[in-house]
Amino acid sequence: MNAPLRVAVTGAAGNIGYAMLFRLAAGDCYGKNQPIILQCLELPSGMKALEGVAMELEDSAFPLLHGIELADDPNVAFKGVNQAFLVGSRPRTKDMNRADLITANGPIFVGQGRALAANAAGDVRVLVVGNPCNTNALIAMHSGKAIPRDRWHAMTRLDENRAKAQLAKKTGALPGEITNLGIWGNHSDTMFPDFNNAKVRGAAATSVVERAWLEGEFLKTVATRGKAIIEARGVSSAASAASAAVDHMATLWHGTAPGEFSSMGVCSNGAYGLPAGLIFSVPVTTAAGNWEVVEGLALDDFARSKIAATTAELESERNTVSDLLA
Ligand code: NAD
Ligand code: LMR
Repeated sequence: MNAPLRVAVTGAAGNIGYAMLFRLAAGDCYGKNQPIILQCLELPSGMKALEGVAMELEDSAFPLLHGIELADDPNVAFKGVNQAFLVGSRPRTKDMNRADLITANGPIFVGQGRALAANAAGDVRVLVVGNPCNTNALIAMHSGKAIPRDRWHAMTRLDENRAKAQLAKKTGALPGEITNLGIWGNHSDTMFPDFNNAKVRGAAATSVVERAWLEGEFLKTVATRGKAIIEARGVSSAASAASAAVDHMATLWHGTAPGEFSSMGVCSNGAYGLPAGLIFSVPVTTAAGNWEVVEGLALDDFARSKIAATTAELESERNTVSDLLA
């Protein structure tokens, strides 16, 4: 058995937090030989509910759960953490776009970025889930400069999972038989699920499905899925978001399979001509907590125009929060 990993979850009494904590404690992220200590952060108003969640975690008697710590102060919750899931923030309602949340949520990531830099373990990896997650991750990264830039992530794995599910449904394949479906750009309606490089049972997706569907219905369904869920449930996706967050950190921890890649919002290093410094979702391979952008993927004019649009949106979000970027 390894030494316990300290895992912070913010917004731990919220909808995503409630779904995520039990998956983490069950060993679904770091494996069945890796104990964890959960360090949960909530607002003071959420602490009572969080105590109830902690009772339920205790009552589950998870063998891998070696501790549960509750705090309403990020400097306490982030003490010595190796992994951090930044979820706590306001979700949108059905009349909003994710970017409309930036004024309410952006400032949260200034304080939390600073608190992580001051308190986290030297090997910390951070996943921002709270929306708009790319720009919130950018704010946190600027606020927590002592942590190397390649440690800050935004979650587009839910978009990848959604895209795989739609392609699987269309082709009759299983979701696990869809590989290399990279998400480019922002976690918003402008992101581009890259069907050109995706595979269905090892064959090019474009050889199995007509291009008109891929450019039309497929793209639209994936891009607007978050809104469709809010319209159906009345609140935003929670269990699928928690599952995608577990998938993201598990992929970073255990590594991608040979020949396969996944999607992560990471700090652009200028690859593919993308502006350096934006938190941009790109196809990556991973190993032992580190990532590398997949090189040499073919991008046709359609893909390039979609990537240009999502880039422009991220640049505009960055301008909106310029006063929060230290
Ligand atoms: P929720 O309202 O159910 O829970 C949010 C929790 O965060 C609440 O308990 C609240 O008290 C807490 N909180 C708020 N501000 C906090 C702070 N500063 N510090 C600590 N805790 C704080 O919302 P939810 O459904 O869990 O969604 C959380 C966020 O995740 C939203 O911004 C939502 O839009 C986003 N989200 C992102 C994705 C993605 O794919 N990236 C998917 C789904 C949801
Ligand atoms: C999602 O994609 O489901 C989340 O980002 C929630 C939302 O606001 O759409």
